Amino acid sequence: MIDSPELQEYRSRIEAAFERWLPPADTHPERLHQAMRYAALNGGKQVRPLLVYASGKALGVPVETLDDPACAVEFIHVFSLVHDDLPAMDDDDLRRGKPTCHKMFDDATAILAGDALQSLAFYILSRSDRMVVSTQRRLEMLETLSFASGSRGMAGGQAIDIASEGKKLDLAELENMHIHKTGTLIRASVRLGALSSPEADPDQIRLLDRYAKCIGLSYQIQDDILDVEGDTATLGKTQGSDLARGKPTYPALMGIEGARRRARELHEESLESLTAFDQRADLLRQLSRYIVERSS
Ligand code: IPE
Ligand code: IPE
Ligand code: MG
Ligand code: MG
Ligand code: MG
Repeated sequence: MIDSPELQEYRSRIEAAFERWLPPADTHPERLHQAMRYAALNGGKQVRPLLVYASGKALGVPVETLDDPACAVEFIHVFSLVHDDLPAMDDDDLRRGKPTCHKMFDDATAILAGDALQSLAFYILSRSDRMVVSTQRRLEMLETLSFASGSRGMAGGQAIDIASEGKKLDLAELENMHIHKTGTLIRASVRLGALSSPEADPDQIRLLDRYAKCIGLSYQIQDDILDVEGDTATLGKTQGSDLARGKPTYPALMGIEGARRRARELHEESLESLTAFDQRADLLRQLSRYIVERSS
């Protein structure tokens, strides 16, 4: 995990936002709220909220304005993990070093916890009074997150993933699946940070989006590599799960070395997209490197 006083500050802001928005565990219906809290509060690298902060920072956005968009995008991500682990999908027992939400609770509660986290994300973007943005911008942010998580984004990618089990995809098909199931939410994270700046011009937003496209794909390539090379204790999820389910992955298609090379290329390309930005974009640069070098 990368660390620095700056990242620690962001992480504690994320925790505070979670506590502001997640209903307490003793609020009726208790079991549902406990499951939402269990899924959201059990760690995770929090790369997507960190990307919201990093992209906002590159454009000089005050940090308070970024707290709630960062929280919203992580809730969408956590919802996607809870559903991804269900028996009807990847059927995984371990997540972030602990039993998956449906193992700890039950399938119905996990489905509902995912649903409720998803709704909460949009509620946050609609309601937040920390966000200093125009109503027009707020609508653009809602549009960004809803599009990215829907059938032409993450949910669509997950549908392709499930339909592809046991099949051999070609490179274009595999890339398309990865761009959707993982890339769109990462892209949305960077865009939410950028849209939080009233001064961001379309060129800056376009360059940040180019950066985000690269790291969105490299993120899933590294995830595929770690499923082969990682170990369960470090990953906090079961190593070898993709192979066991016959998932098409980058290492399966182009070998570990080929997958690593592609991830490196995307890292370089992401840095090129940031050449017009000053040192305020350094956290974006660091996160891009971390994404392809991480071991969990
Ligand atoms: C795992 O996401 C699922 C993918 C989209 C690759 P992360 O690797 O970001 O998982 P956490 O949030 O850190 O647990
Ligand atoms: C998950 O991809 C993508 C989403 C949850 C949208 P994976 O199925 O590869 O994620 P892990 O490996 O279970 O974390
Ligand atoms: Mg999956
Ligand atoms: Mg999975
Ligand atoms: Mg995976």
